Amino acid sequence: MTKIEILPSLLAADFGALADEIRRAEASGADALHIDIMDPHFVPNLSFGPDVVALARRTAPGFPRNVHLMMSRPDLYLEKFVSAGADSVQIHVEADCDVHDALACVRALGAKNAIVFNPETPAEAVLPYLGEVDGVLVMTVHPGYGGQAFIEECLPKIARVRAAAPSLDLMVDGGVNTATAARAAAAGANQLVAGSYLFAQKDMAAAVAGMREVASCAR
Ligand code: DX5
Ligand code: ZN
Repeated sequence: MTKIEILPSLLAADFGALADEIRRAEASGADALHIDIMDPHFVPNLSFGPDVVALARRTAPGFPRNVHLMMSRPDLYLEKFVSAGADSVQIHVEADCDVHDALACVRALGAKNAIVFNPETPAEAVLPYLGEVDGVLVMTVHPGYGGQAFIEECLPKIARVRAAAPSLDLMVDGGVNTATAARAAAAGANQLVAGSYLFAQKDMAAAVAGMREVASCAR
């Protein structure tokens, strides 16, 4: 059975103290740092570039970096993000590029890959990719912003992907807190991204441990 992993999303960190926030996330006992890369064509917002991935590597070399590319042309930036320190790279099925090629390129560069799909996209859209990925990411909010509510209608899509891929890593991203983490894990998710919930905690380590516990019990 796939292991439960918790990934704090840097988008919810205090941008005035990014290095401290990266250290706080690592010290919490979380499994990896989730770094959201946005271009304003793919989503109505902008976030970080490769320099922030490099900052995370410099600040916490032993804390894996999971890079979520919300970009129309992720294919043009894969080399930059992997050389900046991305250990895993997630590509949207809705991107404007050859997604099969982009996923293969991530692996050729030496990183793990995953396919992502948005709330309005059916699970069937990612099924053709299951044989060529290390993981699947089910978006449980509309990408672009942190702090949104978990879209409950996405739960059956998590279950659908888990039924089709019993041993792949299956991640959820958006609106995850202890309550929604339990429902996502019960549906089959094993990797939980949480931004605003975790970074708002005074004691992030206790929140990570609590989320791991409820998710493990929910399976
Ligand atoms: C949304 C991002 C998420 C976001 C999650 O576009 O992909 O990773 O940071 O934030 P919360 O946990 O606040 O919904
Ligand atoms: Zn994300």
